[in-house]
Amino acid sequence: MTAEPRFLPGRFSGLSIKLIATIIAVIFAVEIVVFLPSIANYRASWLDDRLRVGVVAARVLDAVPDVMAIPRNLTDRLLNSAGADAIVYRREGQSQLIELADAQTPTVAVTADMRLRDPMTLIAGAIDTLLGGGGRTLRIVGEGDLNSSLVELLMSERPLRRDVFAYSRDFFLISLIIAAITAVTLYVLVSRLFIRPVRRLTENMLAYRQAPENASLIIIPSQRRDEIGIVERELGAMEQDLFSMLRQRRHLADLGLAVAKINHDLRNTLTSAQLLSDQVATLDDPEVQRLAPRLVTTLDKAIGFAQSVLDYGRESAAPPVPGPVDLRSLIEDAAFDARLVGHPSIAFSNGAPERLRINVDAAQLARVFVNLLKNAREALEAVTAPVAAPAVRVEVSRSDAGLTIAVLDNGPGLPPRARANLFVAFEGSARAGGTGLGLAIAREQVEAHGGQLQWIEQPAGTRFEVTLPASTVLA
Ligand SMILES: Nc1ncnc2c1ncn2[C@@H]1O[C@H](COP(=O)(O)OP(=O)(O)OP(=O)(O)O)[C@@H](O)[C@H]1O
Ligand SMILES: [Mg+2]
Repeated sequence: MTAEPRFLPGRFSGLSIKLIATIIAVIFAVEIVVFLPSIANYRASWLDDRLRVGVVAARVLDAVPDVMAIPRNLTDRLLNSAGADAIVYRREGQSQLIELADAQTPTVAVTADMRLRDPMTLIAGAIDTLLGGGGRTLRIVGEGDLNSSLVELLMSERPLRRDVFAYSRDFFLISLIIAAITAVTLYVLVSRLFIRPVRRLTENMLAYRQAPENASLIIIPSQRRDEIGIVERELGAMEQDLFSMLRQRRHLADLGLAVAKINHDLRNTLTSAQLLSDQVATLDDPEVQRLAPRLVTTLDKAIGFAQSVLDYGRESAAPPVPGPVDLRSLIEDAAFDARLVGHPSIAFSNGAPERLRINVDAAQLARVFVNLLKNAREALEAVTAPVAAPAVRVEVSRSDAGLTIAVLDNGPGLPPRARANLFVAFEGSARAGGTGLGLAIAREQVEAHGGQLQWIEQPAGTRFEVTLPASTVLA
């Protein structure tokens, strides 16, 4: 088990802070979308209010034929109540003007035509007011009471801009308050519903991983029926399983150790017996001469068995450490170790393509092919009815499923006894002197690489296929 540092996320790096930040960002995004039409509306009604005074002024002008006849203080009051410098009234091709005594000549003028009321124009107008700087003269244009009459107000843009800014500030203040209230409420809710239980799960996992043989750390699931409840129950079940597996593994390991010790002593005793039997074999007695070779082979077998059991016990349990390997040379080396290269009667052919590199644990995969090739050699050597041209072949093919490496021979095929327990350690052997470990180990190694080892039934001979995932192929 690795001992890398494990810790829970800090207060500001966990899920909660991400959640709050996301909520606030979303609320602000929504507020901006809402802000544009509402500021446009606010500005439109502000302008409408001013225009209404202009319309009243127009009514006065309608009633009084001569502008000069209107008392100055009345026109000033009208202009002041609209905040305007001048009001222009256009009707039937004529225009009349009332203006403040000290009216300035307009600088850069910007027109707000209130006859155009589509949302885009209003929004564009509002943005223009916000960005426009406020030093311009505003010309508000609208319809008068009478048909085809027009009212125009001329005034400084500054008051409009000031009010629009004040509105925007209030809007954002309120948005901020809404965002804060929503974020806090959601945070409390989500933290109760999700973050706290997820934290409990995380803490349990961290603690359990440190001491998986401590049963008191196994999580006790709550009664929740939602996804988190399922996760809690599944985690609990997994921890239970792991706990029993570890306990079982320890017992097995203890047993294995005992077996290894007994086996070790047995092998030594057998070796002494072998020495004795060798000496006995030198005796001249014909009866001894008849029995001695059988005694010697029996002892050889027994020692061989004890040795392979010891080797299996030492077999590395470490996961494969993959690296780039040339498949053709890997198989060539395996054939050499299986004593197939240069064999007096068996022809060996390596069908792996040149320069096919794969990403595997070279030692472990070599072991797989040594076992398969050795089995093929042993089967061919043991045949009673000699085969015409004994041969062992390795064929490689690539498909979507991955890389398939087949080991074939034209020997007698698998005996029925071997088929029944193929790949089961100590059980699969159907051969005198066999331990029944070769295929079991080979399958274990292939599966650790994410692949499969299969026996493919054939009318004659034997075919084993190693399939490695397509991702192991490098080039
Ligand atoms: N190519 C083959 N042709 C015929 N029989 C085979 C072939 N490969 C395996 N077998 C049979 O399958 C059995 C199991 O093989 P396995 O390699 O697991 O064990 P083993 O060869 O008996 O012992 P070990 O490899 O541990 O020394 C063998 O005993 C043999 O009978
Ligand atoms: Mg074998």
